[in-house]
Amino acid sequence: MLVLALESSCDETAAAVVRDGRELLSNLIASQIDLHAVYGGVVPELASRRHLEVINPLVTEALNTAGVEKEQLEGVVVTRGPGLIGALLVGLSFAKAFAYAQRIPLVGVHHIEGHILAIQLERKVEYPYLALAVSGGHTHLFRVEGIGNYRLLGRTVDDAAGEAFDKVGKLLGLPYPGGPVVDKLASSSGDGGIVFPRPLLKKENLNFSFSGVKTSVLNYLHKLPAAPTETQIAEICSAFQTAVVDVLTQKTLRAAEAEGLSRLVIAGGVACNSGLRHRFAELAISRGLEVHFPSPVLCADNAAMLAVAGDYYLGRGVRAELGLNAVSSWPLEQAAEFLH
Ligand code: KG4
Ligand code: ZN
Repeated sequence: MLVLALESSCDETAAAVVRDGRELLSNLIASQIDLHAVYGGVVPELASRRHLEVINPLVTEALNTAGVEKEQLEGVVVTRGPGLIGALLVGLSFAKAFAYAQRIPLVGVHHIEGHILAIQLERKVEYPYLALAVSGGHTHLFRVEGIGNYRLLGRTVDDAAGEAFDKVGKLLGLPYPGGPVVDKLASSSGDGGIVFPRPLLKKENLNFSFSGVKTSVLNYLHKLPAAPTETQIAEICSAFQTAVVDVLTQKTLRAAEAEGLSRLVIAGGVACNSGLRHRFAELAISRGLEVHFPSPVLCADNAAMLAVAGDYYLGRGVRAELGLNAVSSWPLEQAAEFLH
């Protein structure tokens, strides 16, 4: 099936053309970082307005890049949630109008479902596997039995890991979003002997907590006699990243053990982090695990990732009504209720 996929849940407008849920014909992403950088975070109303301006030409470009006429498309897949409601509604409304005009079926997919299945666009990973979804809005561990069959094992009780990276970046006066910049500085430096806490690591459960690490960074900065030097900033980044990576990897290992899974998929924007990739690569060797990371372009928000589940659902006759609404908060386990 040849589908158009659309994503607009946060600050990226994305459109992709994908064949059979695995062959990527185009995957375009229009980032809004320039728009939100001055505010140090995403401004929802501005995000919606930019999505509205960009989506039509972006879809035309995605079709042109793929060499596909809109008449050839057989379905439309769109992020239904979770995310910023106004932003989601732009993609969803466009998708409905497009599907209606072309007389092709539409299906709404869960954003995190897209992230944890994105790897299937690059290589066939057998089910079941353990997925760590680690992004600006999520830090969740799922057992993935197959498309549409997910069991939540643990989640953050406060900030998501990406959110913590971005907030620490802000505390250190780094450009928005902090994640990639903190990563770059961390990779260029040692930790200077700084140790930040590893929240919940000693707890038996599989939940995460990151707001305490962020507060420890703030307290550390307050105790410095003067504004941190460039060297100190890099050391703080390094110590912070090590703490976050420690917690993410240890909890994931614990979940894998508890579930008897040796196949792992690390997904979402924070899966671009070089420290996290490096540590998991080491663990793969030392623990005999199979660890899969999508390429960075498929880790960050994109539309192609939605086509894996979307193609499967459309192929099984799932059809969204034109009354389909966006949902800002939506547990992943309920994402495929229509299948059962
Ligand atoms: O999946 P994503 O693109 O959007 C959401 O669904 O949230 O993830 C964005 C998050 C941001 O918090 C960003 O700072 C973080 O991923 N991120 C990183 C890196 N690249 C992106 N965090 C740490 N290291 C990176 N290299
Ligand atoms: Zn995302």
